[in-house]
Amino acid sequence: MSKSPDSQRMEKIVSLCKRRGFIFQSSEIYGGLNGLWDYGPLGVELKRNLKNYWWRVTVHERDDVVGMDGSILTHPSVFKASGHVEGFSDLMVDCRLTGQRFRADQVPAQSGAIYSFNGARDVIPPESAFKILVRWAADLLPSAEKVSRKDSIRLALLVNDHRNFNLPKPDKAALSIYKFFVEFANKMSSQDDVSKNEADDFRQAYVSSPDASEDSIRLLRRKGENEGTIFKRAEAFYQLRKILMPLTSPPTPKNATNSREFNPENGAELTPPRPFNLMLETYLGAVADESSKAYLRPETAQAIFVQFKNILEVSRKKLPFGIAQIGKAFRNEINPRNFTFRSREFEQMELEYFCRAEQGMELLEYWKEERLKFYENIGIPRSKLHVLTVPDEERAFYSKGTYDIEYDFPFGRQELEGVAYRTDYDLSQHQKASGKSLEYFDEETKQRFIPHVVEPSAGVDRTVLALICEAYSEDQAPDEKGKMETRLVLRFHPRIAPVKCGVFPLLKNNPQLIAKAKEIVELLRPHMTVFYDESGAIGRRYRRQDEVGTPFCVTVDFETLGEKDAALRDTVTLRERDSMKQERVAINDLLGTLTSRIR
Ligand code: GAP
Repeated sequence: MSKSPDSQRMEKIVSLCKRRGFIFQSSEIYGGLNGLWDYGPLGVELKRNLKNYWWRVTVHERDDVVGMDGSILTHPSVFKASGHVEGFSDLMVDCRLTGQRFRADQVPAQSGAIYSFNGARDVIPPESAFKILVRWAADLLPSAEKVSRKDSIRLALLVNDHRNFNLPKPDKAALSIYKFFVEFANKMSSQDDVSKNEADDFRQAYVSSPDASEDSIRLLRRKGENEGTIFKRAEAFYQLRKILMPLTSPPTPKNATNSREFNPENGAELTPPRPFNLMLETYLGAVADESSKAYLRPETAQAIFVQFKNILEVSRKKLPFGIAQIGKAFRNEINPRNFTFRSREFEQMELEYFCRAEQGMELLEYWKEERLKFYENIGIPRSKLHVLTVPDEERAFYSKGTYDIEYDFPFGRQELEGVAYRTDYDLSQHQKASGKSLEYFDEETKQRFIPHVVEPSAGVDRTVLALICEAYSEDQAPDEKGKMETRLVLRFHPRIAPVKCGVFPLLKNNPQLIAKAKEIVELLRPHMTVFYDESGAIGRRYRRQDEVGTPFCVTVDFETLGEKDAALRDTVTLRERDSMKQERVAINDLLGTLTSRIR
């Protein structure tokens, strides 16, 4: 089946990320670790620019927000109080055939015919019958005592030939083998030189007490699937239950429409959903027991709640005010997928904005709008962002309102950030569990109360992925000879682009051009990331920078040296990535021109 344009686009993005050093699979040389990623030289710059911009607009440019950086390893009591130990779980289902695990809510609806297999018997003789068979064949096969049960058919065929039973060789189907052995047992019991008891024992063991499994399995036969495939899967299921060659009774298929009870990959029945806690734990100190247990935090938020009183005291902020944090979070996701979208280790940018109860709903709206503006300001257009109002039944019980901000990824519309009004739940829980007051004292009204909180919680890695997906584009541009070719370009907003400016001397063997270019590098470097490149034709150098999203390139040419026109001395060509337009800029103006465009 040909791949959809969106999945082709995603494949190209993943491949570019690796090829140009944005993102690599973690522990790749050892086969990789599922759901874990390493950021390469360009990825780390992109990620840093994103986090720095978030910090700038959320903390530095506001009077009402302060920052913190909490520890990743967290006291278990924190997550008992927050409800994570009890309830931070996904419902998961396992494939009864392969053991593959899926999140129950991610299993797609499927239609087809259900084949229910209710047990199977083994058509290979059980151990006791096999021993008798080995004795019967002993004279015909010198190494008969070394053969295994899997060779039963071969042994029986030797006896069959030797005694001229003329039983036809069974084919590979279990039914054919079963019929063969039943006939074989009949023939043996009528042989004069064969002990009657032994022949009866063989038949008894084979026909009446075969190896069997009572386990049942349902398999979904999807449109276009061969019935033989279903029987093969049933066979594999019983083989896993130690039945060497299972004979099943042919089931009567029943129609199923939009069922979520089957593995989308092989149609095998899934187990009923059961909760699976997503928190990762470790042990601190020399002894690994309950008393030394600590959790790797599954969200950064709890550290903020737990430090609320300390930060309130030292910052002397008045409500409403926020505490912001950027940091790692860990979740033992059942199905990490879609590249970095759902990872087991990721970073969050979270703000807990504390307020009075009556301000909660209004601030929820305010922060939703602020966050949408944020995404637009880093280059994600409003048209690709969607606000989902999380319905009552899906919201955490303590939340009075939650929005998901979603983005149109090539693999579908998915959540980038949650903006939730969490009421006073978290602080109340920690106050109750710790016995320490987490109240706010209002000096004007002389009232003490637990503040409410609105939480915009964004994923760094998901946003990085959205930025890359949004930036990825292919257009047509002339090559060195003026012939049009496909140009791969990452159209990052200059503010988050990993490299802001490429600096090139026109020729690599001209010391004057090189010296001037290096002067420019020194001029710009304290203010932005710069990439110096002197190798290859100038067009190729532009293309290399286009591919990693560098918004500006500066070329030092002979005009810069004043060789053609004295008026152009100490000017350079400034080329803009998206339009490919070039302008002549005085070196003296270069820093100002660029810094105003990248901030
Ligand atoms: N404190 C609230 C909280 O953690 P969440 O919706 O579970 O809420 C917030 O997570 C954001 O963290 C998500 O919108 C997403 O951007 C990011 N995130 C959550 N799980 C993630 C995962 N497994 N991989 C990457 N990012 C994830």
